[in-house]
Amino acid sequence: MVAADDRDTRADVPEVEVSEAQIAVHWREEPYYYPSAKFIAQANAGDPAILERFSEQNFPECFRVYADLLSWDAYWHTTLDTSNPPFWKWFVGGRLNACYNCVDRHLAASANKAAFIWVPEPENEPTLALTYQELYRRVNEFAALLRDFAGVKTGDRVTLHLPMVPELPIAMLACARLGAIHSQVFAGFSGAACGDRIADAESKVLITMDGYYRAGDLLDHKVKADEAVARAAQQGCTVEKVLVFRRHAGQYASKSPMVDGRDFFVDDILPQFRNKLVAPVSMPAESTLFLMYTSGTTGRPKGCQHSTGGYLSYVAGTSKYYLDIHPEDTYWCFADIGWITGHSYIVYGPLALGTTSVMYEGTPTYPDAGRPWRIAERLGVNIFHTSPTTIRMLRKVGPDEPAKYNYHFKLMTTVGEPIEPDVWRWYYDVIGKGEAVITDTWWQTETGGFLGCQLPALAPMKPGSCGPGVLGVFPVIYDENGEVVPPGSGRAGNMCIRNPWPGVFQGIWKQPERFVQTYYAKYCRNPESKDWRDWPYFSGDGAVQAADGYFRILGRVDDVINVAGHRLGTKELESATLTVPEIAEAAAVPVMDELRGRAVEMYVTLKPGVAASTEITEKVTKAIETEIGKIARPKSIWIVSDLPKTRSAKIMRRILAGISNFTDVGDTTTLANPEVVEEIRRAVQKAK
Ligand code: WT7
Repeated sequence: MVAADDRDTRADVPEVEVSEAQIAVHWREEPYYYPSAKFIAQANAGDPAILERFSEQNFPECFRVYADLLSWDAYWHTTLDTSNPPFWKWFVGGRLNACYNCVDRHLAASANKAAFIWVPEPENEPTLALTYQELYRRVNEFAALLRDFAGVKTGDRVTLHLPMVPELPIAMLACARLGAIHSQVFAGFSGAACGDRIADAESKVLITMDGYYRAGDLLDHKVKADEAVARAAQQGCTVEKVLVFRRHAGQYASKSPMVDGRDFFVDDILPQFRNKLVAPVSMPAESTLFLMYTSGTTGRPKGCQHSTGGYLSYVAGTSKYYLDIHPEDTYWCFADIGWITGHSYIVYGPLALGTTSVMYEGTPTYPDAGRPWRIAERLGVNIFHTSPTTIRMLRKVGPDEPAKYNYHFKLMTTVGEPIEPDVWRWYYDVIGKGEAVITDTWWQTETGGFLGCQLPALAPMKPGSCGPGVLGVFPVIYDENGEVVPPGSGRAGNMCIRNPWPGVFQGIWKQPERFVQTYYAKYCRNPESKDWRDWPYFSGDGAVQAADGYFRILGRVDDVINVAGHRLGTKELESATLTVPEIAEAAAVPVMDELRGRAVEMYVTLKPGVAASTEITEKVTKAIETEIGKIARPKSIWIVSDLPKTRSAKIMRRILAGISNFTDVGDTTTLANPEVVEEIRRAVQKAK
């Protein structure tokens, strides 16, 4: 355990007054479902001997099985270096290039097989199949442009703010080819949010697009680049070049002017690099492949650093055994590449295995709820990967749609948030037609790949549970004092991992202390120890473990709210709200939401003399959209006369969450202003 004094100074592990896990409903035990004999017969992990190969006594050498899926320029001498805990290093001494592994090495056998199939939103635009050979060409040409026109060098950070178009994985792979670190920001994030991430990464190049389609509209995206560059400049970071792809070559879909000497249309410059080849840069296994920013408990986003050798091995291995990807499969993950799921399980994992990965523009329910199934039927998709929020939405708007289409999935994945057993059953019966195995994969931006999931052919499914730890990963639930909460006890605790694994992030970009404090300090047994056993990883999730070893994730136990599988920090929401001049105080709380799992409600008070109005709530919504993005829009904004506070003026979110969720508000006797609780309750619950 860390010393009590250390604990008091921790910046990023605050005392949480209310967490998602606390508002979770209590689920009962669910019956098992079993994979079909047909699935088992073809599964990549069909032989139980694999469990033995990955047993704890074979750790860490077991992960050679994953690393051997890749082509290495030089083999490693040390599988796991623990000399500087908890900065673990995997496959030290090894060298490889991630782009070579995802593209070049497949050319010999599969040059003209599709690497990506891209489905644009407008149904009159044709589907695009990008073969491995064509991907190779386009990645090389763009890598040449990055290097020779934009001046990108090995180790530089390059920020991408691209929507779901083929140019996104092309740009990622081009960076990887050069050994440059890509940092893709989800296109739905605002220009301001993108600018903060550019500044943190100190990127000199921003890659964006003029516009893209979403639910029938061609959105202006380039305007966000201007805001992003301005925001980065305020933080002392100068973006030298903005590379703008055009959604339709030769046409410009944005109102934003092109800034002379800074902004360049990629399709104007690319012809200079026609058929140009760039040698893949051989990178040390521990070099950083990319940054992926995620929300934490303070306002500043965390740039999670993922490695080249460990990460790529881990996503290749888990794609093979948990998504059951074979090279001949057609695999469709519904996520956006702007999130870790897309990086690991649309781009790097599937391509490392040389399969065909489908990506699409738009939304699942536009023009109608049959779209996913039409696409699945047309393309012959047989592995499908999505989130509980998407499943809930599709069920609501088109409960009988899947039956109308002739597609067959062998495996389906759910990821990103807890899935309610009845939603799981609809997924299984209706979308999966009772044929597909489901893997519920629990993991995080930080973890690179899956951590909790059952091997699909070797263990039964249990609705609502992610299963046991994955191969070579040993989870445990600790209570607040670091005592193990035993399986079958029915008690919830903090979900932790006892050992390092190759996909674990290397650190938080430029914030090494925050990395140690947030993820390792809480359960570290001895800060001097070089033994990984003394450094369990703290996930920030609450969970219960059943007697059979299966974990059920309850939600976050920190100041993070997971809305529709997207992580939002309460501090970020509150500081965005406080940019509205009329707002005096703000508190963000999680509420249960039928469609999105959880949603955010904001409670605000106004400065003296300001009267409540819908104008003010609109300003708050607008501020959150500007600072973070539309995905963060709160479900409700409650303007109240005062917020419940302790005598030391700490806002008690727990009480507000109790009101929002119609649950017990708990003890209010220690409040400085207990009388506001009834007043807020009456107003809010009446309005709901
Ligand atoms: C948080 C991580 C993992 C990629 C997408 C989200 C929640 C994730 C599950 C699951 C229950 C889940 C956790 C976790 N979560 N997967 N299968 N069952 N909860 O990545 O944005 O880093 O969020 O998502 O609360 O901590 P992320």
